[in-house]
Amino acid sequence: MSGGGSSTCAILVAAGAGERLGFDRPKAFVGLGGRVLLAESLERLDTNDWVDTIVVAVPAGWEEAAIVLAEEVVASKVAAVVTGGATRSDSVRAGLAEVPEEALVVLVHDAARPLVGDDVVERVLAPLSEGYDGAVPGLPLADTVKRVQDGVAVETLDRSRLVTVQTPQAFTADALRRAYATEGHVDATDCASLVEARGGRVRVVEGDPRLLKITTPADLALVESWLAD
Ligand code: C5P
Repeated sequence: MSGGGSSTCAILVAAGAGERLGFDRPKAFVGLGGRVLLAESLERLDTNDWVDTIVVAVPAGWEEAAIVLAEEVVASKVAAVVTGGATRSDSVRAGLAEVPEEALVVLVHDAARPLVGDDVVERVLAPLSEGYDGAVPGLPLADTVKRVQDGVAVETLDRSRLVTVQTPQAFTADALRRAYATEGHVDATDCASLVEARGGRVRVVEGDPRLLKITTPADLALVESWLAD
């Protein structure tokens, strides 16, 4: 890992439209605490000692804005800004193509989760030194979870065996490249599911409630209030 001679590249996926937020611009470029949302995670990853390089995926037409932003927040580790794709998986794949050859570890993070802390980055990187192919932050569920069919509850799941999964997610570069090697359309809501589908072992570590993914205006207001703390 980084510091030990090998290198870690972070892919920051910021190419979503963010339609549910209701702004006239992509989610990554809406305001948060006096600057654009993307600035927060970009700056945090850039100042993280474990991260050596960063690849940012943004919507078509926003590449220049991302380059200017990287200069503004003095994010000196940005190796490339790429045009994202139609789905999150497409955007990760586009980012992966620009990950430096020498990177042994890839960290994938959603720009929609601005408050990425050094502690969670450290937690997801640690299992890679123990032989795991990947690691993800997970949170326990507070509510009862049911499987529903045509509006009818058909099963109540054992929530003690379930977690909700966040980003940043860490992978060995080999495992992530293999997961995305399949030609054609892949869609997955996270990278770990593709690594798991190829037999990869993914460790679940403690997540962070402040890594809330901004989806609605209420989420934006909540994260903004945490920023002001
Ligand atoms: O859409 P959702 O909120 O699940 O997106 C999670 C993350 O993936 C966001 O940071 C978003 O910008 C990114 N994404 C992307 N390209 C897409 C769709 C989503 O980079 N086509």
